[in-house]
Amino acid sequence: MCGIVGIIGREQVAPLLVDALKQLEYRGYDSAGVATLQDGVLDRRRAEGKLVNLDKLLKENPLGGTIGLGHTRWATHGAPTVRNAHPHTTPRLAVIHNGIIENFAELRAMLEKDGYVFETETDTETVAHLVTRALDRGLDPVEAVRETLPQLRGAFAIAIMFKGEDDLLIAARNGPPLAVGYGDGEMYLGSDAIALAPFTDSLSYLEDGDWAVLTRSGVVIYDETGATVERPVQKSAGTAFLVSKGNHRHFMEKEIHEQPEVISHTLANYLDFSKGTIRTDAAPIDFAKIDRIAASACGTAYYAGLIGKYWFERIARLPVDIDVASEFRYREMPLSKDSLALFVSQSGETADTLASLRYCKQQGLTIGTIVNVRESTMARESNTVFPTLAGPEVGVASTKAFTCQLAVLASLAVAAGKMRGTINEDEERQLVRELSEIPRYANQALRLEPQIEAISRDLSQVKHVLYLGRGTSFPLALEGALKLKEISYIHAEGYAAGELKHGPIALIDESMPVIVIAPYDHWFEKTVSNMQEVAARGGKIILITDEKGAAASTLKTMHTIVLPDTPEIIAPIIYALPIQMLAYYTAVFMGTDVDQPRNLAKSVTVE
Ligand code: M6R
Repeated sequence: MCGIVGIIGREQVAPLLVDALKQLEYRGYDSAGVATLQDGVLDRRRAEGKLVNLDKLLKENPLGGTIGLGHTRWATHGAPTVRNAHPHTTPRLAVIHNGIIENFAELRAMLEKDGYVFETETDTETVAHLVTRALDRGLDPVEAVRETLPQLRGAFAIAIMFKGEDDLLIAARNGPPLAVGYGDGEMYLGSDAIALAPFTDSLSYLEDGDWAVLTRSGVVIYDETGATVERPVQKSAGTAFLVSKGNHRHFMEKEIHEQPEVISHTLANYLDFSKGTIRTDAAPIDFAKIDRIAASACGTAYYAGLIGKYWFERIARLPVDIDVASEFRYREMPLSKDSLALFVSQSGETADTLASLRYCKQQGLTIGTIVNVRESTMARESNTVFPTLAGPEVGVASTKAFTCQLAVLASLAVAAGKMRGTINEDEERQLVRELSEIPRYANQALRLEPQIEAISRDLSQVKHVLYLGRGTSFPLALEGALKLKEISYIHAEGYAAGELKHGPIALIDESMPVIVIAPYDHWFEKTVSNMQEVAARGGKIILITDEKGAAASTLKTMHTIVLPDTPEIIAPIIYALPIQMLAYYTAVFMGTDVDQPRNLAKSVTVE
């Protein structure tokens, strides 16, 4: 989940590499580095921590040269120190890598036996020495890489630059994504289209097993058999990817506020507002012929899928098995060919979700993916892509991608209900009308921001928080806890409200805030009973409900956040907003790095 970039250009590349790394920093920010080649000589600058440190270093001690590599790291092997920062070099080359070389220990032992001296604890350095060893034996760079690649096991996107070779970059992909960018007398490499957006919108994507030899005049791509192959050159959204915070303090704040608009764009893709129906082209899958859905995803996307399960099962009477992808991929669950394999992912690159997708594909299932990045690997490998139109999400904590995923899942559940005859035309129209109201209700929810900011000040003083909910509010409780812990570092747990008395109630005392998500739905009374149990033990309740719920509850709460009364199907989407704002403002009060919380990365391309 590091970000990599390579340029063979005409201008000085170091500042350009830093520009590209700015777009890639969401993939990791433990350290950053660039290497360039000037007059045939390799040189590099590396800095611990965020890219600003590298930028500063380069300003103090610039690097010349029109060919170079850049890397932003999410540490896997070895601490996030300067020594372990990429690019890694030998006297003959510089290499950058995203992924994990699984057999690095045995390769390292073999290379050390041959006299190669390692400077770092990284797995990447084995690639540097393996290729160097081949060069030392007299092979040219292309042959050296050709010989090295079959020796590597694991997931990698790598790029190599060679001493004395001013017009050559070699790259390879096995797992994590890698794009080749085409310029005018210039060529580029990058982990994704966003990285290359400052330079070009003409891209081709390497497939697994591909490796590419770039010069200023073009690229030759080989597949894993060594045969030359053509990969289509596509136009990406190019500079449209370039995003800024605008007037917001953080990307997360901006992305929370974008939700009414981007949900509306997403819905327009699935709903025919004028007819009040699901668009016929929105779900090119015959849900009537499907016996169940096998779904998997990670993190927030998994919680979106979990909410989708409630919708598919209730509205379309279609059973959904859902699992976190890191478990699903190894569980060897029996799968029926009549099932739809459904994946949910913002990035479309998450390693475990992608592996689950490939597993299901091997088993012969139809693959549908709800994905935000249209050019991602998952999108390219799916039979059907259900796009979310959230736009680029930069904050590591997922917000707008989550609510857009929910908008898609709800629309698909209605489509499935219609196809399976579990809802009639009137019910379809009613549900579509309710879905089309999400943007309006989301705007109303955003108006609660000042109150939520005030509540968050209290929350920032505590050490632990419990989130409770029933029905679709249960996965939302899990999401609320994830959001809070990932950006504020406050320990939080989400529970199904009914599970409270099976253990977690032991944690309740006066110092434990309990955030109860309870719209006035058919679970409300039961959730209120669980709130009573918390109150009886001195727990401090923060109730998130609607006007009817607030009127019906007589319990004393620490705070009550009152949303408008919403139709039941859209409640999880609207209630997500106060949940996100609570986490956001708590983190702001704690003074954490909201957009780039410690130890995390936006796109998790290692397992
Ligand atoms: O790109 P994906 O949606 O596949 O990513 C999945 C998770 O890594 C992601 O949702 C993660 O949990 C976020 N940090 C949550 O805010």
